[in-house]
Amino acid sequence: MIVTIDGPAGVGKTTLASKTASYFHLTYLDTGAMFRSAALALGPGVHELPETVIAAALSKLDYTLQGTGPDAVLLLNGVPLSEDIRTEEAGNAASALAKSTSVRSAMVKAQRRMAQHGNLVAEGRDMGTVVFPEAECKIFLDADPAIRAQRRFLQLQAMNKPADLQRIEQQVRARDERDRNRAIAPLKPADDAVIIDTSTLDIDGVFRAIVHCVESVQS
Ligand code: C5P
Repeated sequence: MIVTIDGPAGVGKTTLASKTASYFHLTYLDTGAMFRSAALALGPGVHELPETVIAAALSKLDYTLQGTGPDAVLLLNGVPLSEDIRTEEAGNAASALAKSTSVRSAMVKAQRRMAQHGNLVAEGRDMGTVVFPEAECKIFLDADPAIRAQRRFLQLQAMNKPADLQRIEQQVRARDERDRNRAIAPLKPADDAVIIDTSTLDIDGVFRAIVHCVESVQS
């Protein structure tokens, strides 16, 4: 069983993917974390370098999953990812790097390798369209950018981190624009995805829709 959860920034993918992993005892793969950690490991401005240079730098990054099930831990070169990847800056750097062809092909290979044992919930942008087109259950989450920015703002406030709503909304819109319009693996629903608009649904409502989707393919 492979469940894919794709969608733009701030739509609730991480919360829902980990809830789905716990409920169905699936391994959780956060592919955004891979792009974020690669951007941090390779350093600022790397996306402007020639593809051959990016590919050589990337070949030194080895992603593995430690364990299986909802508590599986994503490792980069044997080390769990740090919380530093969770900033808006890391998200923007990841999005800039994510349009590189060598980055995309290295990530697809690593993601498929980690899915070898199946029973996975994978969240990202191209899980249902490119990486796991054979997935049994594909979910695409969407929501109004202003609502996603507001959610992110509240999350940052709850973590006592500096938050500027207007700036966050600008960043959400810029990231959407880049992710939806890039040439390779743009953010879009697979033809057979269940599309859920989370603008007015709470997490439990969306989760029920995902459970329904998974249970209908299981039976
Ligand atoms: O989901 P998250 O915000 O952690 O992703 C960070 C960035 O990584 C996204 O804006 C996107 O550009 C890139 N990404 C991607 N493909 C994925 C996952 C993330 O291009 N499967």
